[in-house]
Amino acid sequence: MKEFDVKTKIYFGENALIRLSQLKCDKVLVVSDPFVISSGLISHVTEPLKKAGIKYNIFSDVVPDPPVSKIILGVSEALTFRADYIVAIGGGSSMDTAKALRKFAKQIDASYDPKLVCIPTTSGTGSEVTSFAVITDGKKKIPLSSEDMIPNEAILDEVLVKSVPSNITADTGMDTLTHAIEAYVSVNNNEFSGALAEKSVEICGQFLLRSYNDCNDAHARRKVHIASCLAGLAFNSASLGLNHGMAHQLGAQFHIAHGRANAILLPHIIEYNSEIGKFSRSSEKYSPCVRKYCNMARILGVSNLNEVTTIRALVSYIQFMMTEMSIPHKISELGIISEGEYMSKIEIMAEAAIKDSCTATNPRVPTKQEVMDIYRKIW
Ligand SMILES: NC(=O)c1ccc[n+]([C@@H]2O[C@H](COP(=O)([O-])OP(=O)(O)OC[C@H]3O[C@@H](n4cnc5c(N)ncnc54)[C@H](O)[C@@H]3O)[C@@H](O)[C@H]2O)c1
Ligand SMILES: [Fe+2]
Repeated sequence: MKEFDVKTKIYFGENALIRLSQLKCDKVLVVSDPFVISSGLISHVTEPLKKAGIKYNIFSDVVPDPPVSKIILGVSEALTFRADYIVAIGGGSSMDTAKALRKFAKQIDASYDPKLVCIPTTSGTGSEVTSFAVITDGKKKIPLSSEDMIPNEAILDEVLVKSVPSNITADTGMDTLTHAIEAYVSVNNNEFSGALAEKSVEICGQFLLRSYNDCNDAHARRKVHIASCLAGLAFNSASLGLNHGMAHQLGAQFHIAHGRANAILLPHIIEYNSEIGKFSRSSEKYSPCVRKYCNMARILGVSNLNEVTTIRALVSYIQFMMTEMSIPHKISELGIISEGEYMSKIEIMAEAAIKDSCTATNPRVPTKQEVMDIYRKIW
């Protein structure tokens, strides 16, 4: 038996943030990062709360790749302030911090059961509708997953993503594209997750580059914001794959931005999963994920003569997007890690990637050696 449900109520479209003034509660704990506070974006949450006479505290100790130590501080704040709602505003790091701190606060004190509202300010993770939160323990990324982390509500308002700089638009946009493609070929895919992933990819194909090229293109920004949420719904049902399993290790070891790590891996993972590369010839039989990748290529308008040329075209399309959005194709091009340091971590990363919960639903079961090879290829 399979199951598909959407537990998060999604508010979107013009003035969606008005929802905050309708919350029936006395106290809200707002969770965010220092940028959201200093840029003034936070006022999109605090103003409606003030108008509605709702008291609030702000926990702003969120950092990228949220470490356990910060989550503990948040748990303490939540259990002291005991707000009826936790409202996270920010990128995946803020939303994941809020999801994890609510989960742990509830575990410590079963009588405390706040509702969670997630408001993304980047268009990438889809965390506002998923049961996942990725936290960091030292050099380990831990993808937590449980039903009790699914936000009760999500608010999508493109006004919040207007300020996202082009490099973050590029990285987070490629995260969305990777979510949709990985969910689509996951061994847990189903018709519902598939429909959501297809729509997400269609929107990315039409609007991601437009959104990157002009941050004031509100229509493109709105579309990509919705594509990110659609991909979140898709992978919340179908889960992800080796791409994320490997990207998590690059984040944990070297703090490479999550979307950027995914983008660098994506062409290689498509080649690996499909078993189609530069020198492949067409054959009678392909692995089942090839048909799925070909559907994605068709949606993106790069479908070609046969399976081999279509997979090649899909890989080229992703490389084209990376080039257009100034995303390096190789880890060495990032200029932040020495070759020796990177190579010395490959074995540890491969072992962790195989154990990562995302890898379990990859369409091809990887060996440690194969994962190490892919890590070497992306250097
Ligand atoms: N829970 C999930 O389902 C899920 C899925 C994918 C990724 N993740 C996790 O999410 C994290 C990545 O999230 P992210 O890519 O959104 O990045 P992020 O939250 O780490 O934010 C990246 C940077 O963008 C800035 N930023 C956020 N909103 C902005 C805005 N409107 N304008 C300008 N700058 C802004 C932040 O201050 C930060 O400096 C990683 O830890 C990743 O593992 C979680
Ligand atoms: Fe992701």
